[in-house]
Amino acid sequence: MEDLLQKIISLSKRRGFIFPSSEIYGGFGSSYDFGPLGVEMKNNIKNAWRDEMLRKQNPPAGGIVVGLDSAIMMNPKVWQASGHLSAGFADELVECKKCHHRFRKDFLEKDKCPDCGGEITQPRKFNLMMKTFVGALEEDSAMAYLRAETCQGIYVNFENIVNSMRLKIPFGVAQIGKSFRNEITPKDFIYRTREFEQMEMQWFCEPKTAPEFFEYWKEQRMKWYLNLGIKKENLRFREVNKEELAHYAKRAVDIEYKFPFGWKEIEGVHNRGDWDLSNHSKHCGKELKYEGYYPHIIETSGGADRGFLAFLIDAYEEIRGGRTETTEAVKEVEVMLKLHKSLAPVKVAILPLLKNKPELVKKAREVFDLLKNNFACQYDEAGSIGRRYRRQDEIGTLFCLTVDFETLEKDDLTIRDRDTMKQDRVKIDNLLEILKEKLEK
Ligand code: GAP
Repeated sequence: MEDLLQKIISLSKRRGFIFPSSEIYGGFGSSYDFGPLGVEMKNNIKNAWRDEMLRKQNPPAGGIVVGLDSAIMMNPKVWQASGHLSAGFADELVECKKCHHRFRKDFLEKDKCPDCGGEITQPRKFNLMMKTFVGALEEDSAMAYLRAETCQGIYVNFENIVNSMRLKIPFGVAQIGKSFRNEITPKDFIYRTREFEQMEMQWFCEPKTAPEFFEYWKEQRMKWYLNLGIKKENLRFREVNKEELAHYAKRAVDIEYKFPFGWKEIEGVHNRGDWDLSNHSKHCGKELKYEGYYPHIIETSGGADRGFLAFLIDAYEEIRGGRTETTEAVKEVEVMLKLHKSLAPVKVAILPLLKNKPELVKKAREVFDLLKNNFACQYDEAGSIGRRYRRQDEIGTLFCLTVDFETLEKDDLTIRDRDTMKQDRVKIDNLLEILKEKLEK
């Protein structure tokens, strides 16, 4: 199964989804860059999340969800109040006495170094906040932190949001953005990195309604992954036990995905009670209350990168013996990404049958121009038509349009469906409508 991860890493680089960061300088720790197709797909994930959270929700007692985009660097007092500077937001670090490699204590199976078998040191607490200096002086007074979770920007804006939007409880605030944690052992490709993107929604409600909303949001979030095509058998809930709960949480349920390296969290749903608003009130001296009480908070906190990896792995299929029409494919293993139509980075590929026939190329270019403002399109004329179909399957393209000699006579072309492999001839005049219907259905 680990082999599958290697295939995903290799596909990601080969086809422009994810590159190791600063590769020409030997890379940089666990940093990755999203390439041309990766950024399209990640934006599709984020747009699907925004659409779901801000527009499609219909919670039991009404209430809307609004957006926010708060700063990454905040007043350091925020992190004092949130508890992130205390031992609660620290991992236990151990070091090998022989090779000096460092590990998270809870990741070790034995009390020996997994790299060289050496003896390990006693654990010490290692805070995960990423530090930086703001302004010209590198001294303590100029020290700031990069946010470790996006939701703190929501809590500190609670009053601004309620007042400016005239909101009544219950309501939610959703935000997508980068977060940073000085992870001791980043690993498993983009699964655990020091810089990552979160998609978080905070639901403010009356204390007595919090358990009911917890159940509501938990189900909604699971449905989102299922509706975007992740197979049911690869997803599950896991109740986080008391000893494992984050310092702010009264209750937490993780949504886990079955990765090649095991069942792992992709999103957490948390009942944060009044932890955040009451602590910020104490520290800032302003009562962050609503009609005399601290609203309770139900949080849904997903990782855009972890989601990306889960969607990619789940969509990956290998077809032995080939499934495309040409004989050259027969002995090869074909790779295809069965991504959900709203997540696929390219929706339509336009292919002239032969690239050395100017009439075909001209016509195919015209079709590309006709469609490119409506859908993410790719024009491809290099190599045999069979190879081009396979290249498109490998990146999850939904429809391939082939311009052939008949097109020149009849003004129609073939449209090939990624999943059914069915090919139909359609009039170019009707193409835009047909594709719109297929992609919106
Ligand atoms: N505001 C709550 C919070 O941050 P969390 O469980 O620490 O909760 C939520 O993180 C989500 O953020 C995780 O489920 C994961 O998807 C993502 N995440 C957290 N740490 C990450 C890391 N080091 N690399 C990639 N994603 C991470």
